Amino acid sequence: MTITTCVFDAYGTLFDVAAAARQAASEPGHEKLRDSWPALAAHWRAKQLQYTWLRAITEAHTDFWEVTQNGLDWALDAEGLAGDPALRERLLALYWELSAYPEVPAVLAALRAHGLNTAILSNGSPDMLDGALQSAGLSDLLDAVLSVESVGIFKPDARVYDLVGTHFDCTKDEVLFVSSNGWDAAGAAGYGFTTAWVNRAGEPMDRLPWTPHHILTDLRGIPALAEG
Ligand code: LAC
Repeated sequence: MTITTCVFDAYGTLFDVAAAARQAASEPGHEKLRDSWPALAAHWRAKQLQYTWLRAITEAHTDFWEVTQNGLDWALDAEGLAGDPALRERLLALYWELSAYPEVPAVLAALRAHGLNTAILSNGSPDMLDGALQSAGLSDLLDAVLSVESVGIFKPDARVYDLVGTHFDCTKDEVLFVSSNGWDAAGAAGYGFTTAWVNRAGEPMDRLPWTPHHILTDLRGIPALAEG
């Protein structure tokens, strides 16, 4: 089946989730982060994601902004930085204006020039996604921004992936789903999408029952895959 719709995960795939800690570390007053920002960023992301999975399986949903704050609080505590409320506030503010990876605008524009639908499917709440998209100047390059908030459960629950077919009135095999999160690419493959794992960090393959169909190091190969 021909791909008609190219759907992207947001955080880590289009937006650089390490950018907030990296940027804060370069600012005056945050010298404590100079050496520890990579560990802080890694803890923050890991806990944020763990909390999404735990809330999904226990049916205790809250929005992504809440788990983003909870993950940061754990990470600041782990790095001995919990007593710096101004740093916490700055890191959270930066999360609303994460930079996009450099290849993102050209890739989205190429897909649209070829007549494909482009969309985000993200755990992010609509207001967080809107903030990041506006700050990165990407809003006009997407046909839809689909948030888990419309179903009230996080990925990889099938109800989240169902949002794509409902929105675009398309079948699963018309969709190329792109994520830098190995578990998300695997989950979407299990759901029935064709999937591309953008393995930016050079990580090992997740040991799950499903595997992504394609593996890339960044998004530049996506138009060729989608246009088949
Ligand atoms: C998202 C997270 C998983 O954007 O990166 O859905």
